[in-house]
Amino acid sequence: MHEPNDLSAFWMPFTDNRAFKQHPRMFVAAEGMHYTAAAGHKVLDATGGLWCVNAGHARRPIIDAIKAAAEQLDFAPTFQLAHPAAFEAASRLALLMPAGLDRIFFTNSGSESVDTALKIALAYQKARGMGGKTRLIGRERGYHGVGFGGISVGGIVGNRRQFGTLLTGVDHLRHTHDPARNAFSRGLPLHGADLAEDLERLVALHGAETIAAVIVEPVAGSTGVLVPPVGYLQRLREICDKHDILLIFDEVITAFGRVGKATAAERFGVSPDIITMAKGLTNAAVPMGAVAARREVHDCIVNAAAPGIELFHGYTYSGHPLAAAAAIATLDIYAAEGLFDKAIELEDYWSDAVHSLKGARHVIDCRNYGLMGGIELAPRPGAPTKRALEVFHRAFDSGLLIRVTGDIIALSPPLILEKSHIDEIFGRLGEILALID
Ligand SMILES: Cc1ncc(COP(=O)(O)O)c(C=O)c1O
Repeated sequence: MHEPNDLSAFWMPFTDNRAFKQHPRMFVAAEGMHYTAAAGHKVLDATGGLWCVNAGHARRPIIDAIKAAAEQLDFAPTFQLAHPAAFEAASRLALLMPAGLDRIFFTNSGSESVDTALKIALAYQKARGMGGKTRLIGRERGYHGVGFGGISVGGIVGNRRQFGTLLTGVDHLRHTHDPARNAFSRGLPLHGADLAEDLERLVALHGAETIAAVIVEPVAGSTGVLVPPVGYLQRLREICDKHDILLIFDEVITAFGRVGKATAAERFGVSPDIITMAKGLTNAAVPMGAVAARREVHDCIVNAAAPGIELFHGYTYSGHPLAAAAAIATLDIYAAEGLFDKAIELEDYWSDAVHSLKGARHVIDCRNYGLMGGIELAPRPGAPTKRALEVFHRAFDSGLLIRVTGDIIALSPPLILEKSHIDEIFGRLGEILALID
C-alpha cells in the first residue's frame, strides 16, 4: 500500500535509496543561484543542478517559451514529419559548433547523445566502405552516461560491473589523472600529454583498420574534474588523423560556457568529428540532448544510403516542441548575457578560490578549469567516500549544494554567479572541512 507521500515507490537513480528515505533532502523551488529546500532554507547552487543549469534557475524567457510551445503544439513526431522549431533549434545550435560540425541530431539526454554518436561513427565507417572499423575506444574514468554504449566506452568501474559483458570490441586509453606529478595544478596540468600515445599502443594492438572512433570528455567531469594535460587533446587529434579514426568529444558537461566558450573544442582549439551535448542546451528546463556531426560524416551516411531512411535511429521525442522552444530561448539568453565569456572573466578569481583550499584539512588536490572545480579529499581509512559524503550533507544542511563523487568535491556553478557567491562557496567549504574528521 502506498500513501500519496510515501517515499518507497520512486526508485531513485544513482542514490543510496535506503539512506535517502531515512533522511530525505528535497527541493521545492529554485530561482537564480538558489534552491529552496523543503525544510525552508535557501541553498546556494554550486553545481548548476547537476552540471546543467548554466543560466541560473527559473529563467523567465525559458519558462515563457515552454509554456507557449505547450499551448501551441504539445507534440509533433519528427519521423517523416516535423515542426519548425526543431529546425530552428538545430540551425541555432549548428552556428555555435566548430566549423564544419553543422549537422545536428536531437536526443533527450547525454546518454542518448553518446549512444547516438557511437552509432553514427559505426554507420559512417560502414557507409564509406570501411565496415571493418567497428572498435570503439574510450578512456578509464570516462563517464559517458548509462546506455550500454556509454557504459561500455566509459571507465567508471562501479557503473559497469553490475551489467554483464557490455559491448564487445571496446578498449580504453589510460586516464590522465597523475597526482604525483600534477597535484594542485592551476588550469591545465603540465605533465601527461604523452598519455595520448596510448592510442598508438591500441592501434598497434588491434590495427587501425578495426577502430571506428575514440570518445573522450575534453575535461572529465563526473569522475571528479580531471583537466587534460597541456597538449594532450591536440596529440589525440593528431593520432586519430594519422590512423583515420573519428574523434568524439563528449561535451555533455563542457559545452555551453562551462569552460568559457560554446564548446571545449573551441576553447582548446581542437576540432573533433562529432560532439555530444545535453544539459546546458535547454538550461535543463526540459530534457534535451544533441549530437553535432561533421558535415562529411552526415553526407557520407546520407549519400551512401539507398532511397529511403538513411539512418535507422531516433527517439520519439527527438526535437520535441517544448525542448526545441527551451533550447532556442536558452541560446538567446547565453548570447544576450554573454554567459559563455563568464567562465573566462571569472577564471582567475575562481582558480584562486579553489586553490585557497590547499592546506585545508583532508585536501590532497585542487584542480580547476573554466568554472569547474575539483577538490580531492584523503579518504577515511577503511571508509572511502564517507568523508566527502559528510561534507555534502553538512553543506546542504548549511545552505550550500555541492556534488561529490568518491572522495572528490566537484563544483560547476551557474555561469551567472558573482564573486560574492564564490567567496561564500569556498568560505563555507573551508569551515566544514575544518570541522569534520
Ligand atoms: C560527459 C557526460 N556524458 C554523458 C552524460 C549522461 O547524461 P545524462 O545523464 O543526461 O544521460 C553525462 C552526465 O553527467 C556526462 O557528464
